Amino acid sequence: MKIATVGLGYMGLPMAAVLARAGHTVVGIDIRPAAVDAVNAGRADFSEVGLTELVAEAHATGNLKAVLGGEKLPENLPKGWAEVYILSLPTPVDHTTHTADMGAVRAGVQSLIPLLQGGELIVLESTSPLGATKTDVQDLVEAARPELKGKIDYVFCPERAIPGNTLFEMVHNDRLVGGLTPAATARGVQLYQTFCKGEVIGCTATEAELVKLTENASRDVQIAFANELSLVCQHLGVNVRSIIALANRHPRVNILQPAAGVGGHCIAVDPWFIVQAAPELTPLLQTARAVNDGKPQWVAEQVKKAAKATGKAKPVVAALGLAYKPDVDDLRESPSIAVVEALRTAGVELRVVEPHLKSWNLPLSPLEQAIAEADVVVTLTAHKAFQELPAGALAGKPVIDAVGIYANRPDALRVVM
Ligand SMILES: NC(=O)c1ccc[n+]([C@@H]2O[C@H](COP(=O)([O-])OP(=O)(O)OC[C@H]3O[C@@H](n4cnc5c(N)ncnc54)[C@H](O)[C@@H]3O)[C@@H](O)[C@H]2O)c1
Repeated sequence: MKIATVGLGYMGLPMAAVLARAGHTVVGIDIRPAAVDAVNAGRADFSEVGLTELVAEAHATGNLKAVLGGEKLPENLPKGWAEVYILSLPTPVDHTTHTADMGAVRAGVQSLIPLLQGGELIVLESTSPLGATKTDVQDLVEAARPELKGKIDYVFCPERAIPGNTLFEMVHNDRLVGGLTPAATARGVQLYQTFCKGEVIGCTATEAELVKLTENASRDVQIAFANELSLVCQHLGVNVRSIIALANRHPRVNILQPAAGVGGHCIAVDPWFIVQAAPELTPLLQTARAVNDGKPQWVAEQVKKAAKATGKAKPVVAALGLAYKPDVDDLRESPSIAVVEALRTAGVELRVVEPHLKSWNLPLSPLEQAIAEADVVVTLTAHKAFQELPAGALAGKPVIDAVGIYANRPDALRVVM
């Protein structure tokens, strides 16, 4: 098939490359010249295991190229060229209203409307609020081109892959394909079966939209439980990780681990899209969001207490990790940043360590130097590099171990587990 993927980010570029490997002819579209140039030079412009190699291979076969999107798209891609459009565009949450910002999806749809001729399949992969496949895709197309009413198939197909293992999961995870009509569902299922090794399951668009949000909202609530428990345990002077390990010996209990909060642009964002649909019916989801969003401030308070307890006039704090999860450079919605910002605003002398970034808003320090200079250490992201710290490096320093990586270090004076 001739497929255009709109958005060449963390999800869109791997999808384009996987489709090209499966034998489709793929044109990737993005408004970032750097993303377009990278694909046309046969590489990825961000790091993901195996991605640059796959893009190089797909580009070399002639199955993958990229063009600049936006208003100039009709100059860069012939009308009627693509049989399928796949939208992998950002859907952030507006932090004031807690509602989805569908601006990028709507702009992406607007840009491809002039290219449509009828008969296409349009797939929305972006995690979206309920009803978006209709309101933010189909309705826009039909408002601009009423003659295309009933002539285009629309499906929602949520992406479940995880950065760091995207290429494997994109192919091996089970997929949901939810069409606005049964015919659209059947066509979407056929498309995904051309490269998916997991099961491809057809359903309605509303079901697929809600399942995606449900998966992440469920994880948010479970992590909120662990985060709340960590506050209670600290208050009681017991180790939360021991409590969880012991409770998990119950055959039907499986508590997750607490951390510095919840980050990433999925789990910290998607529950809001359910709340948006039913604010009065979702007190649990809203409380979970508040618990997880409140955790960084609590961690910062524990750090300030420990710093004060050193008795030094200007104690130095080493903050380990900015990324929202281990071993990636992705900072989106990262609770580590919220902790660092809270400490910086309070005037704390910081040594920030993030081995996956070359630079950031504050100067970054090498790990061992930061620890050597620190009076207090706070762990914010469980990067492997932090876990491999040489024995003795913590040498009795107070550690706020928000992500629980120094549990078995006799040299760490752990004040928060
Ligand atoms: N990254 C993940 O782990 C993940 C996992 C599951 C679902 N998702 C969802 O997938 C969607 C995409 O996420 P992502 O991480 O790939 O985002 P991203 O920000 O990495 O990529 C989006 C890309 O879209 C481009 N873009 C923006 N507006 C455009 C337009 N009008 N035309 C063409 N290109 C445009 C951006 O330049 C960017 O390259 C989001 O809804 C996200 O919630 C992401």
